[in-house]
Amino acid sequence: MDVIRVNGPARLAGEVTVVGAKNSALKLMAAALLASGRTELTNVPQITDVMIMAEVLRRLGCDVEISGDRVVIDTPVELSGHADYDLVRRLRASINVLGPLLTRRGYAKVAHPGGDVIGTRGLDMHVAGLARMGARITGEHGYVIAEAERLHGTTIWLDFPSVGATENILMAAVRAKGTTVIDNAAREPEVVDICAMLTAMGAKIEGAGTSTLTIHGVDELRPVSHRTIGDRIIAGTWAFGAAMTGGDVTVHGVPAGYLDVALDKLTTAGAQVDRFSDGFRVRMSQRPRAVDMVTLPYPGLATDLLPMAIGLASVADGVSLITENVFDGRFMFINEMSRLGADIRTDGHHAVVRGRERLSGAPVRATDIRAGAGLVLAGLCADGVTEVTDVAHIDRGYPDFVAQLRSLGAPVERLTVPDEPDPFARLSPG
Ligand code: UD1
Repeated sequence: MDVIRVNGPARLAGEVTVVGAKNSALKLMAAALLASGRTELTNVPQITDVMIMAEVLRRLGCDVEISGDRVVIDTPVELSGHADYDLVRRLRASINVLGPLLTRRGYAKVAHPGGDVIGTRGLDMHVAGLARMGARITGEHGYVIAEAERLHGTTIWLDFPSVGATENILMAAVRAKGTTVIDNAAREPEVVDICAMLTAMGAKIEGAGTSTLTIHGVDELRPVSHRTIGDRIIAGTWAFGAAMTGGDVTVHGVPAGYLDVALDKLTTAGAQVDRFSDGFRVRMSQRPRAVDMVTLPYPGLATDLLPMAIGLASVADGVSLITENVFDGRFMFINEMSRLGADIRTDGHHAVVRGRERLSGAPVRATDIRAGAGLVLAGLCADGVTEVTDVAHIDRGYPDFVAQLRSLGAPVERLTVPDEPDPFARLSPG
């Protein structure tokens, strides 16, 4: 079992360059299904999720080669339409093959990905959108089965600007007959990135980055080379880390504009923020001031930065109200923050955080990717040793997290500790 050990307190200082965005790269890989031939993606992060997505594509009939940050996908003319549960359960983003498969093959059978530790994650908007385009969709034995001779354009009003549903419908619409309009579409930079790649492939898309996407279907798309945008969540993690630890961090690889709300909140908390075209610098020379934060679809504060927002509030001077609006299970990690001495009370999707000058090091468990990173940052604001377990979660979103922390001067190490036998394992229940 690997653990990350943090020797606090410590401040982050220096420069980091972020890798390509996981949440973009995985969807771009799914988009490669839309054109037969050789798609090349660069700036792809080297993380397990990319390996799993590569395996999903291989099972569908593609040849996939990964070397460093480059992924080459050779898509055959005839694809299989079947994505199994053993892979889909490990990677929710694999549901994004549904739209491309359906529009190319007229048939897709994709395992239902189920929920997630950060909360229930429905598929109703994906399904309703594709059905409106003419697909017959059924659920059977844990699979979503979609069939259509050829999807047709229509107008789809999303109840909520879901990133996943926008992407699935968009990828189905680019090869549908006629014009599809997605109203209340997600505006995330990762959606814009997919639109850029699809447009280079020959798709006709208007309104990328706005709430209305208009897609004129085409008969054929061609494979392209595409560079993945930088990871704004990793960049935001360093921004909060700098502010929480009284640090000074310069981040390269992501336009500052992807993080406008987050950087503005840090300024309100007392940080000095300098913006560049490909990054930003965050300096904090005082204890952060309390600041209220609300997660929302882009351009709001990203839900993936919620743990960092709670971390900042936990050491800020004053009381902050933090509201989570996207996932119902995001607060699960708050028990772990309490172990570090954070003073947090939750009520529904609100958390009232009374800042403490210092947290207190303790053993804690990463409950998901972002919670894990947030706990490591909180450990930097704590006296003594914090050991974070279940770090496999962190590996899914932060390649070389420990090496990057160390390059910023953090006294952090990764250790492999033997699994201890559970002394209660043989006790029978009751
Ligand atoms: C979400 C984030 C995205 C982030 C990603 C990875 C938002 C809006 N989305 O995208 O920025 O990169 O996680 O952590 O912040 N929902 C339904 N029915 C559906 C689809 C979604 O009820 O058919 C609900 C979900 O349960 C959730 C919300 O809508 O509460 C947002 O879902 P969605 O944006 O689709 O999630 P992801 O694509 O995973």
